[in-house]
Amino acid sequence: MGWPLPDGGRTLLVAGGVGAPPIVAAAGLLAAHDLPFDAIIGARSKDRLWGEQQLRDLGAHHTLVTTDDGSYGLGGLTTDAMAQCLAARPYDLVMACGPTRMMAGVASLAEKAHVRCLVSLEQLMACGFGACGCCNVPLRNGGYASCCMDGPVFDGSEVAW
Ligand code: FES
Repeated sequence: MGWPLPDGGRTLLVAGGVGAPPIVAAAGLLAAHDLPFDAIIGARSKDRLWGEQQLRDLGAHHTLVTTDDGSYGLGGLTTDAMAQCLAARPYDLVMACGPTRMMAGVASLAEKAHVRCLVSLEQLMACGFGACGCCNVPLRNGGYASCCMDGPVFDGSEVAW
């Protein structure tokens, strides 16, 4: 499945590195339906950042930028900025895409804050139709889901990070 349309309420988007394009697509979906959202976008450094202006142009109310090396925006991780956002205002949904370690941290923070979290996973894919198993995602309740057939968007609480 792709990004589902939220029922309403405020969404927090979290993008890290190459996860920015799917998050900009999520912002476009929200904007097209007049749903409010804030955005966090992180990169290793300023010269590797893409998507900030796109998120602002699509109507993000609050946009926080982080860089690992502190060359732009807040120095630190997207999860640091996410903790600030969760403390500042209520959210009904988090949508995240980026490195697996980042998404694991995002899912954990969202779970602690009792906010639903959707993650768009980036797995190596060979066949693309559920046959080879190389894109399998381990699930918290046991077993695996196929990223190519069942994802790439999963509920973060279902994934065994
Ligand atoms: S890419 Fe082969 S099962 Fe998903």
